[in-house]
Amino acid sequence: MSTDRVVVVADPIDREALVRLGQGPCRVVDASGDPKSLPQHLADAWGLIVRSRTKVTKELLASAPRLEIVARAGVGVDNVDLNATAARGIRVVNAPAAATESVAELALTFYLLLVRGLSSSIASTRSGKWERGTHGHELAGKTVGFVGYGRIAREVAKLVEPFHATTLAFDPFVPASGDRTTMVPFFDLLQRSDIVSVHAASTEENRHLLNARAFEMMKPGAFLVNVARGALVDEAALLAALSSGRLGGAALDVYEVEPPMNRELLAHPNVIPTPHMGASTHEAQARAGTDTVDEVLRALRGEPLTALVPVPGGSR
Ligand code: MLT
Repeated sequence: MSTDRVVVVADPIDREALVRLGQGPCRVVDASGDPKSLPQHLADAWGLIVRSRTKVTKELLASAPRLEIVARAGVGVDNVDLNATAARGIRVVNAPAAATESVAELALTFYLLLVRGLSSSIASTRSGKWERGTHGHELAGKTVGFVGYGRIAREVAKLVEPFHATTLAFDPFVPASGDRTTMVPFFDLLQRSDIVSVHAASTEENRHLLNARAFEMMKPGAFLVNVARGALVDEAALLAALSSGRLGGAALDVYEVEPPMNRELLAHPNVIPTPHMGASTHEAQARAGTDTVDEVLRALRGEPLTALVPVPGGSR
């Protein structure tokens, strides 16, 4: 088979998956360890594999005249200009199921940490104190409200079922949940949830969906969890809602700007911050690498693709 086609790997992916790609009908250029070398490799690229570090902009695409496929080794494709790829007829694929369990487990961990108030107990015990007073709550019997009800939120709903938590969801694209979660309007979800958990993809329309007005509608002392994308949450308004005591706490894995700039928010005692690591487990990264490489190999062989990202405003 021809190995004329060049697949450029721009960001680090699972090593074994990279080896498998190298056995396919292509020439692999691994530029992941040297991002500055990327432009020089793009001139010949037929395929491009990225995680989230590389931004696939119109400008980047202009330097890749032969490009036919962009493969995102992860879920979110907000780092790919889908209008620009569609205009060039470049197919975009992702690995939509690779991180489901990992991100869902992180969300569950956040819920337990927040409701139990564990951050302050850990910090005080570490500092030599011995504070055994009544502290925190149970997840049992609480209401979790999912903003966005896709694959990951559905997995979290399953994980919280044994805790006897009630689950609500708001998702304009999901009329009926098909499971025990009740679909509700956005404002109902805010008013009824003890934990508002963000799982929507980031779009221009939902930027700052969780804003000052939304925080004002949430239950006093409720918690916010964001394992999706930072742009959905107005961080300045969140800091104000935490500082006034309106919200009881927040756990954030994603930020408006990454790495995050808002030091005051990160340092707030009621905030649990992590570095966008929801999908960074060994298992999820192995799956993301394998799923992505499999899809690129299918494209190289001219086989039907299984994880084609829809073209904005239509189908192809
Ligand atoms: C994803 O969209 O897959 C996750 O946020 C992790 C990543 O950006 O790789």
